[in-house]
Amino acid sequence: MKVDGTHYRSLWYDHDEAVLKIIDQRWLPHKFVVQAVPTLEDYAAAIKEMRVRGAPLIGATAAYGVAHQMGKDASDASLDHARDVLIQTRPTAINLKWALDRCQAHLAPLAPSDRATAALQLAHDISDEDVEINRMIGVHGLDLIRKIAADKADGEPVRILTHCNAGWIATVDWGTATSPMYQAHDAGIPVHIWVGETRPRNQGVLTAWELGHHGVPHTYLTDNAGGHLMQHGQVDMVLVGVDRATRQGDICNKIGTYLKALAAHDNDIPFYAALPSPTIDWTVRDGIAEIPIEERDHRETTHIWGRNDEGNVEQVQVSPDGTPAGNPAFDVTPARLVTGLITERGIAKANEEDMLRLFSEHREA
Ligand code: MRU
Repeated sequence: MKVDGTHYRSLWYDHDEAVLKIIDQRWLPHKFVVQAVPTLEDYAAAIKEMRVRGAPLIGATAAYGVAHQMGKDASDASLDHARDVLIQTRPTAINLKWALDRCQAHLAPLAPSDRATAALQLAHDISDEDVEINRMIGVHGLDLIRKIAADKADGEPVRILTHCNAGWIATVDWGTATSPMYQAHDAGIPVHIWVGETRPRNQGVLTAWELGHHGVPHTYLTDNAGGHLMQHGQVDMVLVGVDRATRQGDICNKIGTYLKALAAHDNDIPFYAALPSPTIDWTVRDGIAEIPIEERDHRETTHIWGRNDEGNVEQVQVSPDGTPAGNPAFDVTPARLVTGLITERGIAKANEEDMLRLFSEHREA
């Protein structure tokens, strides 16, 4: 997607410098900072500190982390070490494990002398596939938006409420939840996006930043405004991303998604989740019982980042000194509240049978 007229992916390999470049998302929307990732420890820190974030982007970054390590030392021990370091960074988004498993399966059988080239090519492939998958999610999601638009008076926008940032910077390009929004906008279908702020990390500002750069009309709101808008007939659909879906169609996403789904259900508003197939954990059925929820630094709750009147980015404390705080980063929305899952292969109902209709290779023997 474009930033001030220049097309960017959210990560890219700089062949001249032989290093991965990322956009350090901690500074957005205030500063656009491009950063090289020179060591395995930097890869781990980039994921853990959320310089890169969003399930698909975490997976792609990890694949480049393995490639980096193979360029330094392509032994079996080094391959295992890369996996051990990277897998510990964030526990909830399954794309991390998916990417590391894929690297391991592809590289372990190779002779060490072949691993560096193969690992880099695999990281490129994972990134390119992510772009194409997300483009296809947009194609299928666009059909849904078109149908809603058909029932509206000419020029009336389709109003979509989203949560967190499932945008192009959370993937390699396009985004998952945002891909249908971008494609609808590009096709001339009027849309208006309600963007929830997404405390405590405020990923909603990233979504507002992206949409603004693409010219998509949007409004940035407090998280708690969503239910109110739904009660007053101002939301046509809810569309969110996913960090891990289960084979029965539960979806785990940024904390607060469940409350949006409850409000959508209460107001008869369709609630869709957009996800690439690497986000489905076919080993898990019951998301509430089985998906590990990341508990992040409590300082993310007690403090908030912003830009002061002098233009400097700073962090301020919002809670009383010493307040005990909690910070679960994700929640699970059970399948019964999910209208459909928009994947690269089409839209599935949130149940095992319909998901297997699209992904029959995951049928149990
Ligand atoms: O903690 P984050 O910012 O990595 O969480 C991101 C989300 O919850 C996204 O909605 C999800 O990863 C889908 S990104 C296409």
